[in-house]
Amino acid sequence: MYDNNPTLEGLDLNKPLEEFRQGEALGIAAMELAQEGKKFYIESYGCSMNFSDSEIIAAILFEDGFSLTRNFEEADLILLNTCAIRDNAEQRVRKRLSEFKHAKKNRPGVLIGMLGCMAERLKENLLEQEKLVDIVCGPDAYRDLPKLVKNADSGQKGVNVLLSREETYSDISPIRLDTNGVTAFISIMRGCDNMCSFCVVPFTRGRERSRNAFAVIAEAQDLYERGYREVTLLGQNVDSYKWENPETGQVISFAQLMVMVAEVNSALRIRFSTSHPKDITDEVLYAIAKYDNICNYIHLPVQSGNSNVLERMNRTYNREWYLERIAAIQRIVPDCGISTDIITGFCGETEAEHQDTLSLMEMVQYDMAYMFFYSERPGTLAARKYVDDVPHEVKLRRLNEVIEVKKRQAAIKNQADIGKTFRVLVEKPSKRSDKDMSGRNDQNKLIVFPAEKLKPGTYVNVKVTSASQATLIGELV
Ligand code: 5AD
Ligand code: SF4
Repeated sequence: MYDNNPTLEGLDLNKPLEEFRQGEALGIAAMELAQEGKKFYIESYGCSMNFSDSEIIAAILFEDGFSLTRNFEEADLILLNTCAIRDNAEQRVRKRLSEFKHAKKNRPGVLIGMLGCMAERLKENLLEQEKLVDIVCGPDAYRDLPKLVKNADSGQKGVNVLLSREETYSDISPIRLDTNGVTAFISIMRGCDNMCSFCVVPFTRGRERSRNAFAVIAEAQDLYERGYREVTLLGQNVDSYKWENPETGQVISFAQLMVMVAEVNSALRIRFSTSHPKDITDEVLYAIAKYDNICNYIHLPVQSGNSNVLERMNRTYNREWYLERIAAIQRIVPDCGISTDIITGFCGETEAEHQDTLSLMEMVQYDMAYMFFYSERPGTLAARKYVDDVPHEVKLRRLNEVIEVKKRQAAIKNQADIGKTFRVLVEKPSKRSDKDMSGRNDQNKLIVFPAEKLKPGTYVNVKVTSASQATLIGELV
């Protein structure tokens, strides 16, 4: 059955991991030493990659003697790690910035830094024209942050928006922020070489590059030893992960990397995001099927169910290809949870093309979907090539139709889970009641169950007794 099994045969896995472990020790030492130093405050917006980057930024600032505060009013440095993917993401950041500017009036020495994708998109404009911030730092320039802060402190410009072909922050051990101590992100690659016509990411995050596989494994091992039980391998397009060992010339694929992380310990769960339909291979699917600790859950953004729209989006697959990949998932990993991203009202989208998205949803029966209306991003291929001609109210109406299908499907799927028993990783007390705990099953569904004394990080079997649209409710068995 496992003909396409990813194999580790021939790979030299004996490289000492110690060189990567030192970073973690340094990070913790710096955190302890830094208590008396200047304080930074950080807010993250957008995708998981940004949240993961904020943990790298925290490690860099701890090294430089800063400590973290959760209260921006006592911070010497206020940082916003921003998202530029849609216009409303940028508007939220601008609103927040004006609140911080207000706080700065009372404490003029405070520095405000804009980091991440919006910093990269708007570059110097943020400093010069809008006078909104003191520091502008793009996603590949975080090592430069201590210097930018010093420059800004002495009244100079604090800008670095250079993109890199090599930077992966491989040697930096992230300082976990807002952690539940059970689940963590591990960044395995940066940037994106796909040129989806609607997307600003290739411009803000630069070219795709893969992180050293040994650094990834060392991070997973370290997390496991510190009690973490789930890691999510992150990249804009994880299926094109490809790392060549400079010493041996061996090339490690995503499926192989996933297996190497799965081998760290069978009690460490592996998730990954995001997969691209053109790149997800059977080798990846067989790895999921073979390893119990690789979760049966795939986020596979479709964006549209119509082949002409997909071509205008430059997604490089069509409806048939996508449905074939779904069939492969269902064949190789029969109980796999599947989720997606959908954009409504892309340039030129007709009513019939929109109907194709609805019909594809009916065919796939997604467990979860993230749905957006198209938001033109300056500089993207679509902004240059196509007219953003679907009226706003039509985009919204189509979005609502998509949301309705998703809600109906989620309700049906959750009802179908009643009576089933799932292995759940206990994460944290439930929001509903402190007598309940919550966690996720393999398929990434949130399950709430009464269990006062269970420690986060333990695995339990939970039988589902009822279900709402978003959550399963169950009892320990
Ligand atoms: N408008 C709307 N949605 C977008 N996305 C990316 N760019 C845009 C845009 N310009 C969505 C895609 C992607 C998800 C992360 O965000 O669905 O998969
Ligand atoms: Fe954007 Fe497409 Fe790259 Fe995803 S794969 S980040 S949608 S360009």
